[in-house]
Amino acid sequence: MKIRKPKLFILFLALGLALVLVGCKAAEPIVQPTAETIIEYVEVTVVVEPTPVPPTPTPEPTPLPDQSAQLAAWEASPHGNTWGEGKGPNTWCSRCHSPQNWDPAAVIGPPPACFSCKFPADAEMRIAPGNAFIPEEEWIGIPCETCHIMENDVATVNAWLNPISMEYVAVNTTTELCEKCHVTTTGTGNPVRSAVDHQITLGGPAHLNYAGFIDEEIPPQYCTDCHDPHTQQPKGCVDCHEIDAAAHAGGRYVNMAEKVTCMACHDASGAEVGPHPDEAMGGVFTTLLTEVGRSGPTTSAIVSHSIQYTVACDRCHFEANAWELPVYDEEGNVPEPTAAPTP
Ligand code: HEC
Ligand code: HEC
Ligand code: HEC
Ligand code: HEC
Ligand code: HEC
Ligand code: HEC
Ligand code: HEC
Repeated sequence: MKIRKPKLFILFLALGLALVLVGCKAAEPIVQPTAETIIEYVEVTVVVEPTPVPPTPTPEPTPLPDQSAQLAAWEASPHGNTWGEGKGPNTWCSRCHSPQNWDPAAVIGPPPACFSCKFPADAEMRIAPGNAFIPEEEWIGIPCETCHIMENDVATVNAWLNPISMEYVAVNTTTELCEKCHVTTTGTGNPVRSAVDHQITLGGPAHLNYAGFIDEEIPPQYCTDCHDPHTQQPKGCVDCHEIDAAAHAGGRYVNMAEKVTCMACHDASGAEVGPHPDEAMGGVFTTLLTEVGRSGPTTSAIVSHSIQYTVACDRCHFEANAWELPVYDEEGNVPEPTAAPTP
């Protein structure tokens, strides 16, 4: 055993040396950087420690844009109230009054019940076989989605919801959107026998002749330049034009300010003009349409959307006018008395 001891000792020594060597070899490259790392670590900790790690934020939903103003405006507007017994609550008329209730297969029935509707003189609702009656609870109307692509109940860009394919169709202008319904289908050879005349023609050089306007401002050219799309209320002429009443129309406007609307003078559609047929309007001159029906001609006030700069005074002040207005020529001059006929 005694002999072995040194051997063992040597063996242990050798083993120990080997371990130390191995340890040194392995440790050598590590020890140095470890020391550095610790220094770095301390530095980093100093920087990091004062800033408390914020708790993982619970993702807060981005607040939905507030569209309550548009909603309220729409709810009180004609577009928000399209159901009515007299307004064709049926699958034919709903094409424009509530597009999502439209049945393209609906047909106009034979008289007297052509449409499911209740005309003012009717005691009862007429029910037509070809276009089923739609009760108010099933009526969809003209909701936001008719004109807007909806995302999480929020109205985004404008587009037309095709009520049949239920897919959106792009529109280039707001006018294109309005004209999905504000159209005239009579006399167009439309195979779907139809009966509406709602096209609004924006015409007349004043608002359409871009080259001729006085200021840099472009005249209104789209429906929503004047109409709020949610209340549908239009801006009036004086909301955009401040006229100098005393100088207007060569100083003659003041004689007529109370009795003549802007459009009675500036209408470019060639409409008839005269006192408003509704006596409550106090005889103010406006644009009119006379239609001859079975019970004779009826005159009603119409809205013209065609505006011109040029005003012809003799549109009203013509020879022998029924309103006993003084006679003027186009320019507002008293016409030269026509030479007495030579006998
Ligand atoms: C092509 C689209 C379209 C169709 C189809 C249509 N309408 Fe209309 N309707 C309109 C538009 C647009 C207006 C409003 C514009 C206006 O007054 O000039 C309107 C307005 C009306 C109004 C006046 C509403 C009010 O309160 O002043 C009545 C009533 C009406 N429609 C009834 C009908 C009936 C009944 C039918 C079916 C026989 C029908 N409409 C089919 C587009 C249409
Ligand atoms: C008849 C079509 C129509 C309907 C229905 C409609 N909108 Fe609009 N909306 C428009 C048009 C057109 C514009 C863009 C006006 C413009 O660019 O001049 C618009 C613009 C907007 C805007 C942008 C801000 C503003 O007021 O111009 C918001 C928000 C909006 N609509 C929300 C709604 C909501 C909510 C509803 C339903 C309650 C709705 N809209 C129903 C046509 C419509
Ligand atoms: C989905 C079909 C539809 C679209 C699209 C539409 N309208 Fe209408 N609009 C109607 C109907 C139907 C009425 C009649 C509502 C009622 O009184 O029952 C109406 C009524 C109106 C009225 C009131 C008419 C009156 O006699 O007082 C105005 C103004 C109007 N719309 C303007 C617009 C404008 C501007 C646009 C485009 C931004 C537009 N509409 C888009 C169907 C439509
Ligand atoms: C220059 C401004 C202006 C523009 C642009 C305009 N409107 Fe009007 N609109 C008016 C005014 C003002 C009235 C109301 C006149 C009144 O009540 O005497 C009106 C009335 C209406 C009416 C109800 C009267 C009627 O004829 O049945 C409808 C529907 C209408 N506009 C639709 C449209 C449509 C659709 C467009 C686009 C094609 C359009 N408007 C463009 C100013 C405008
Ligand atoms: C939304 C604003 C707006 C409304 C509403 C509006 N206009 Fe204009 N109008 C203009 C702008 C902008 C011009 C072009 C700039 C200019 O020439 O003054 C114009 C041009 C005109 C011109 C031609 C001026 C010229 O020298 O060529 C006449 C006339 C006119 N408007 C009359 C009317 C009448 C009448 C109404 C009401 C039915 C009306 N406008 C409603 C904005 C409007
Ligand atoms: C009695 C007819 C008459 C009436 C009513 C009338 N105008 Fe005029 N307007 C004219 C004549 C004529 C001109 C040509 C310029 C002139 O002689 O002042 C004109 C010119 C204009 C112009 C071109 C710029 C300018 O001021 O010369 C605008 C815009 C206009 N009118 C807007 C209106 C508005 C808005 C109203 C309603 C508040 C209105 N007009 C009512 C006869 C009329
Ligand atoms: C749309 C119809 C209409 C047009 C266009 C029109 N007027 Fe008039 N004018 C009237 C009416 C209506 C009266 C009466 C006003 C009253 O009784 O208050 C009147 C009254 C007058 C008066 C006062 C006459 C008197 O005996 O007191 C003068 C002056 C006049 N107009 C000049 C003109 C001139 C100039 C023009 C062309 C720039 C013109 N008018 C265009 C409808 C019109």
